[in-house]
Order: sequence, then structure tokens, then C-alpha cells
Amino acid sequence: MGGFLGFCYRQLTYRPHPLPTSASLKGQTALITGANSGLGLEAARELAAHKLSRLILAVRDASKGEAAKKSILATSPECAVEVWSLDHESYDSIAEFGKRVAALDRIDYALLNAGVKKLEYSASSSTGHELNVQVNHIGTSAVSLAVLPVLRNTARKVNSPTRLTIVSSEGHFWIPFKEQSAPDILKRMDDKETFGTAMQRYYTSKLLNVLWARELASKVSPEEVVINTVNPGFCYSGLHRHESTGIIKIFLWMLGWSSVQGGHCLTDALVQHRDSHGEYFSEQRQVPPSSFVLSPQGQNAQKKIWQETIALLKE
Ligand SMILES: NC(=O)c1ccc[n+]([C@@H]2O[C@H](COP(=O)([O-])OP(=O)(O)OC[C@H]3O[C@@H](n4cnc5c(N)ncnc54)[C@H](OP(=O)(O)O)[C@@H]3O)[C@@H](O)[C@H]2O)c1
Repeated sequence: MGGFLGFCYRQLTYRPHPLPTSASLKGQTALITGANSGLGLEAARELAAHKLSRLILAVRDASKGEAAKKSILATSPECAVEVWSLDHESYDSIAEFGKRVAALDRIDYALLNAGVKKLEYSASSSTGHELNVQVNHIGTSAVSLAVLPVLRNTARKVNSPTRLTIVSSEGHFWIPFKEQSAPDILKRMDDKETFGTAMQRYYTSKLLNVLWARELASKVSPEEVVINTVNPGFCYSGLHRHESTGIIKIFLWMLGWSSVQGGHCLTDALVQHRDSHGEYFSEQRQVPPSSFVLSPQGQNAQKKIWQETIALLKE
């Protein structure tokens, strides 16, 4: 069942489950962005509890990162937890982060989860791009390129594919993506007039996550890095902090999963499902992404977004 009714039905009837107790991540390293709160923090906690050896929490606020580290160590004291600075709004921060990543001896799991949901137009004060697009798409895409070489090298060393999961949303089904025919899609989305209503731009940024992950996957062998995207479900978290009406609170009360349950969806896509290269997960199952993504127009948009994003990052 698709659409809004399907969404409500699945939120009400499905209960995300944790990784199997037998899953051991001993000797392995994971890196999670936006790991100081919400789903990223819960995913981090779950991986650490499965004997993960090294965990890198990539956060934009060091004090929040240290608090997250403390809370993870309280239950998983054996895990070597590190807090690294990363701000998706700053190319300097991303470049600095990329340098540190390049020096790592291994990354087995990279979970690109950092995100915002801004319901009113604002442009990033550092890059000038619309904020949802900057943080959710441009920042995430840049970080995916930074972690990829280390994921590849690790796969060669350990003779087994490593994993990259990008956190998207079911909302990617729910937008018309009007900007797709613009000569420069990313530039067009910087125009305030195109922002649309309420969550449209946030959903578009989550569509960009799916398009980017699919194009990236098409360029990488699944024998090296398995790349997928995941919808974590509709969950209680700080993501909804900019909502000014009570409607979202009512929906959360009626349908919302906990951050822990959302975290289970992320760890499931990241650790399980080795044959999921280029695929999309929802309710811990591999399902098709939106029909737009699979359409010829979607495939054109995928290539265009890739080229524009690469050109922008090269700048
Ligand atoms: N919760 C849901 O219902 C839901 C549904 C679908 C998809 N998602 C996706 O799930 C992911 C996690 O969200 P959440 O629900 O856990 O929300 P959250 O609690 O607000 O967590 C978002 C994380 O992203 C970080 N972040 C925000 N802006 C950043 C920036 N400029 N640079 C680096 N990090 C930044 C936040 O850091 P600060 O704490 O410093 O702000 C926080 O750690 C997001 O990608 C979101 O789109 C969530």
C-alpha cells in the first residue's frame, strides 16, 4: 500500500528490530555523521554494543559530541569512541574532515546520517546555498566522496566489501521535483521562489540523497563498497524542532517510532543486506524507490545532479 495511507499503516503495524545478538563488529571501525543526537546517536550506541572496536562520531558541536561519547561509553566501555568535527555548511570543515579520514587505516562502515529539516527558506551563511540542500545533499555528497577511498582500501585489505549507507526519507516519494528541468538544478533551488510549501524542499533534498547514492553506486563495485540508502521511518528526534504547528506532535504521538527504533533501521541497512548495492530500504526491507527515481526522467536527473554536484565541489 503506497501513499499517505500506506505510510500510516506501516508506521502503526511495523516495529523495527535490532541487529541480531550474534552480530559481532569486533576489530571493525564505523564512522557516523550527525552522531550526537537522534537516530545517529542510537545507531552509534547499537553498533558499539556489538563489540565495535572503533567508532568515530562526526559532529558539528564538539560538546554535544563529547556528551554522546560519554553516554555510549557508559554501556560499551570497550569501544574506542572518538569525536571529530564536521559541519556540512563549511567546505573548510569538510576538507579538514576529509584529510583526517584519508589518514585512517580502515573504515568498515560509514553511515551518512547528518541532516536538517528547515521549513522556511534560508541560505547557508557560509556557502549561500539553500540550507536543506546544503546540509542534506551537498554536505552528505562531499562526505561520501571523502570516505570512499578509505572504504575501498579497507575492502581490499580485509578481502570483503565495506559499507556506505546514506539516510534518506520516504518523503522522497512525495514531491514533484519541479526543478528537474532547470538548466542548473542546484542553482535553481537556491532561488527563494522555488522553495515551495512546508516540507517540499526537505523532501527534495532527500530525493537528491537517493539519486546521488544510486549514481555513486553505479561507479563503485559492490565487491569493494556496498552503497545503499535508507528510510528510517517517522521517528521522535530533534529533526522536527522547526515545526511551529502542533500537527507534527499529534502525528508523532499517533504514529511515531522512537529514535532507538529509527536507529535500528539505520544499523540494519548498514550492517545487514550485503546484496543491496544501489538499493533503498524501508521498514528494514529492500523496496523500490519512488517511480520517479526509476523513470527515464529520474535517471536523467540522477546524472545531472551528479555532474552539477561534482562541478560545485571542484569549485
Ligand atoms: N526523525 C525522522 O522522523 C526522520 C524521518 C526521515 C528521515 N530522517 C533523517 O534521519 C537523519 C537523522 O535525523 P534525526 O531524526 O536523528 O534528527 P536530529 O536528531 O536533528 O539529528 C540530526 C543530526 O544532524 C546534525 N546536523 C545538522 N546540521 C548539520 C551540519 N550543518 N553539519 C553537520 N551535522 C549537522 C545534527 O547536529 P546538531 O545536533 O548539532 O544539530 C544532528 O546530529 C536525517 O538525515 C533525517 O533527514 C529522519
